[in-house]
Amino acid sequence: MKEKKRIIAMAGKGGTGKTTISSLLIKYLVENAFTPILAVDADANANLNELLGLDVPETLGGIRERMKNETPQGMTKSDFMEMEINKAIIEATGFDLLVMGQPTGPGCYCMANSILAGVMDRLSGSYKFMLVDNEAGMEHLSRLNLRKLEMLFVVSDPSARGVMTAARIAELTKALGVEVGGKVLIVNRAPEIMPEALIEKIAETVHQTDLVFGGIVPMSQEIFEAEAKRQSLLNLSPETHAVQAAFEIFRRHIK
Ligand SMILES: Nc1ncnc2c1ncn2[C@@H]1O[C@H](COP(=O)(O)OP(=O)(O)OP(=O)(O)O)[C@@H](O)[C@H]1O
Ligand SMILES: [Mg+2]
Repeated sequence: MKEKKRIIAMAGKGGTGKTTISSLLIKYLVENAFTPILAVDADANANLNELLGLDVPETLGGIRERMKNETPQGMTKSDFMEMEINKAIIEATGFDLLVMGQPTGPGCYCMANSILAGVMDRLSGSYKFMLVDNEAGMEHLSRLNLRKLEMLFVVSDPSARGVMTAARIAELTKALGVEVGGKVLIVNRAPEIMPEALIEKIAETVHQTDLVFGGIVPMSQEIFEAEAKRQSLLNLSPETHAVQAAFEIFRRHIK
């Protein structure tokens, strides 16, 4: 029987580090031969490609838009979309990247979205892992008809309110009708000394929800510098503390 593809998604409030942690997760999966991987940037303001040092010539949103008028006569819309998506796949070492792009404009996109979901479902079957970098609302999960996730990493900033927001965001998957194998909280950009009260708040929050505490990724000078120089996070040294901390979380939760 064909192996089931494993879907991992990122969630969290704006600016908490979802895209950064997604990049580190791709680095981890590639370096540990959990390949091939399909990375999907499901943020309207796409920038995962930048952290991976890749250019994006075409987005799924753009293809969905063009499908309406550009499907050649004698070709089904579904075949057109499949052909265009295959062209839009950005191939890198160990992983491929697809970018969702802008949400739909006014009008009905139900058919276009259902064709897109169908094509994506077929396509993703040839990967071992699918990683989806979301925005806080995670609407693209339902747009892609992803009903079952193996894992949801919920990224939070190191604050009591941030952790409570993370817990609320984790709850959103229920409203979206997405079944999640495990929800793992990552507290990112943490200071060297975490306040005792914050550690207690994290413990209390995970206790009250179905979140599991994954771990802490420290504030990282190396990430700051890579970001400023627009360098790919895939090239961060294995000595980088943030990389080591993130990898430790992944090692424990991805078997
Ligand atoms: N551990 C870290 N150390 C230092 N800087 C970090 C760390 N994590 C993230 N950053 C920086 O914080 C900023 C926001 O991170 P990122 O873009 O990953 O967040 P996001 O949750 O994806 O944001 P958005 O909601 O806009 O998609 C970036 O400039 C990133 O370089
Ligand atoms: Mg992001």
